[in-house]
Amino acid sequence: MTVYERIELLLDKGSFVETDRYVKHLCTEFGMERKRIAGDGVVCGYGKIDGRTVFLYGFDFSVFGGSLSAANAKKIAKVQDMALKCGAPVIGLYDSGGARIQEGVESLTGFAEIFRRNVMSSGVIPQISAIMGPCAGGSCYSPALTDFIFMVKGESQMFVTGPNVVKQETAEECDKETLGGADVHASLSGTCSLVCENDAECLMSIRELIGFLPSNNMEDAPVHKATDELTRDCHELDNVVPDSPSIPYDIRDIIQPICDHQYFFELMPDFASNIVIGFGRMAGRTVGFVANQPNCLAGAIDINASDKAARFISFCDCFNIPLVVIEDVPGFLPGVGQEHGGIIRHGAKIVYAFTEATVPKITLITRKAYGGAYIVMNSKQTGADINLAYPSAEIAVMGGRGAVSILYREESPKRQAELLKEYEEKFANPYCAAERGYVDDIIQPYETRTAIIRALDCCRNKSISNPPKKHGNMPV
Ligand code: HXC
Repeated sequence: MTVYERIELLLDKGSFVETDRYVKHLCTEFGMERKRIAGDGVVCGYGKIDGRTVFLYGFDFSVFGGSLSAANAKKIAKVQDMALKCGAPVIGLYDSGGARIQEGVESLTGFAEIFRRNVMSSGVIPQISAIMGPCAGGSCYSPALTDFIFMVKGESQMFVTGPNVVKQETAEECDKETLGGADVHASLSGTCSLVCENDAECLMSIRELIGFLPSNNMEDAPVHKATDELTRDCHELDNVVPDSPSIPYDIRDIIQPICDHQYFFELMPDFASNIVIGFGRMAGRTVGFVANQPNCLAGAIDINASDKAARFISFCDCFNIPLVVIEDVPGFLPGVGQEHGGIIRHGAKIVYAFTEATVPKITLITRKAYGGAYIVMNSKQTGADINLAYPSAEIAVMGGRGAVSILYREESPKRQAELLKEYEEKFANPYCAAERGYVDDIIQPYETRTAIIRALDCCRNKSISNPPKKHGNMPV
């Protein structure tokens, strides 16, 4: 698609208003004064998505490879300033080789102007980037400063510098796709929020995402008419959690049925699949879900899961989106690789993000809630508002086998089996925690939707604030 076709599809029909279409670059090096094209390869303006204003800019790869000149950096900065002033989301459609080589420092300075505005807008207005072609250098770093990055399978790539330079500098052979294709960033680097099959699907997904979000941090997300029964029993949940703690299941089989019309918009599904994040609606209002995924690494929290969850939690908190946490977690992932990779500082991000968040926070424990992972997954004492558990929940320092092997390692296998039974009777349930008030209620699976909607409803007017400070210092 051309950049105009993309914009046309992204926005409500006929709503696009273009700005700065007469702008041309002022470069006179390398014979550039003979190649001046109106608009200079970036299309800027504003329009509507579902009747709500958004600002946008889109790169045109057919003009100097969509590279950034000082002139079109000014155009983009103008759009960013308008979006911030007017409290509306800003969307960048990237198809750009980065800084325009012929312009040298002028172009680099242009990126600095854009980055500064990305940072100043962070947490004030949603910023969304779509990578729709090969993107290099600053055309990757600006998206990386935004909240969500969409990519198109087989068509879009992101890298600091392209395959030719990589070969020159490191002698590594690669092509654009293996260096920074959509699959690479969706499953390995964690840079991409969602991979789409083609341009059209990508633009439709952005429209959908915008529908879940408020226009700015002073507003609530759009409220839909609650057409799905609020007290709908979900009997399909009764048999989702297996009796045996070692049998996996798909946590999305719990999230999906409780959402309005059973619709869950998952983000980053292929990166750190041991944690699930995404948006849904409950009683017509946007909710951010964070859930351990027993189907992958038994739901253990590792470095990548920590990064993925913390950033999402922080986004929801910025934009007044309540958090619903579904927990089945055996602990942090053990191993030399994880320890050396920094699971301690990375894992600390989750507890930091949950604790700092002042939005309504609800937790449901479906099965395991062991050790430090129990604490960091939005436990009562870190500031959760309502904590629920299924009767199948097990809240303990660790699983029975591990505990017995540490406490009673000298005992005979027969005695160990008896002690395991004793331990499980004592701890493999939610009642110890409920007796102490760390869990507010124990619910049956079929009651999940009703119970969470009631919890969210009771917290709707929650108002707390953290101690005054310039800003906190989240572990990174
Ligand atoms: C000027 C550029 C350009 C650039 C591409 N073109 N990138 N012109 N400045 N940065 C031009 C090409 O000369 C070519 O012009 C046309 O765009 C299409 O480019 P191709 O290379 O033929 O396309 P393709 O094979 O698809 O490869 C795309 C690409 C590659 C991977 C993006 O062009 C590339 O590696 N470009 C350089 C990327 C880069 O290193 N940029 C600077 C990053 S530094 P003709 O006339 O032949 O059609 C940066 C600074 C900020 O951005 C960093 C902040 C942290």
